[in-house]
Amino acid sequence: PKTIAVLTSGGDAPGMNACIRAIVLACERENYTVYGYLHGYNGLLNQEYTQLHAERVHNLNQLGGTILHSARCREFKTQDAAERAAANLDALEVDMLIVIGGDGSFRGAMHLSNYWDGQIIGIPGTIDNDINGTDATIGYYTAIETAVDSIDKVRDTADAFERIFLVEVMGRHAGFLGLSAALASASDFVLLPELFESEAATLKQIGEQLSERREQRGNISYIIVLAENLWPGGINKLAEKLQSLTQSEVRPVILGHVQRGGAPVSQDRIMAMKLGAHAVSLAGSQTNCVMVGERYGKPCEVPLPVTWSEPKPLSDSDVNTMKQLMNNRYA
Ligand code: F6P
Repeated sequence: PKTIAVLTSGGDAPGMNACIRAIVLACERENYTVYGYLHGYNGLLNQEYTQLHAERVHNLNQLGGTILHSARCREFKTQDAAERAAANLDALEVDMLIVIGGDGSFRGAMHLSNYWDGQIIGIPGTIDNDINGTDATIGYYTAIETAVDSIDKVRDTADAFERIFLVEVMGRHAGFLGLSAALASASDFVLLPELFESEAATLKQIGEQLSERREQRGNISYIIVLAENLWPGGINKLAEKLQSLTQSEVRPVILGHVQRGGAPVSQDRIMAMKLGAHAVSLAGSQTNCVMVGERYGKPCEVPLPVTWSEPKPLSDSDVNTMKQLMNNRYA
């Protein structure tokens, strides 16, 4: 029987708990021992862990956040830290370490592999969906729902006042969440890092679209979705510019960390369960330093460095749909 350890690292994402549950249940089935390291890589450095049994993961599938807690651990980049982690894993006789997190967490896992001989498997968990080699990441679909739900609510007020709203969504430096949330909420304009040309071009486009609509329909509500970390000077700067450009009130709304919380939607739960169970099925095989992701509904294995080596592109068809239905004078 093997010994498996799991940790969650970086930004928490809805569905991480469903993944932990799947790992624990799949391990119980095989008679494997499972340890959960606490507080991401910090737990690995401080040998802070708990043994996980089926009772601990009862009723866990629907819970947001992560029962193992999470952290961003800068110290883990050093050789000393990785060596300490390796010694701690060996002290517990761990055969396989499963890291649930985003690209920063995978880089940490790869760094550890230089100092530790055990098997290392990554599982993509981040609301940003910015991981190559997998169609989606655990938490992404829930974050879309949360953002869409919030934008729908903003639309009520926007319509009542025929006002312009600027809504900032998360995604770090990727536009997946922004694009999906903008499409599903039928927002009027979306600003994404992948498609951003310049401040001037964007303002011109918004100005044209808005005046065309106002000519046709009079005052209207207008919702712009803005990906975080995109606009120079931030959302308030853009709101000011739009205010003077359109000669009307513009309200900025930052959705923020609400997008990271809440019960995972079914898609995230099911993906989390599949990936967790698949990771455990690899214990004892030659497979090492891979991320277990999902392609066309099936688990796949991708070398960890591939997951971050280049930016993951937005879906062409989503972008085309956006171009047909938004950001233009006909929408
Ligand atoms: O990676 C998830 C994420 O929520 C990003 O969308 C965001 O940029 C970042 O984490 C925020 O990090 P923190 O919670 O550390 O402020």
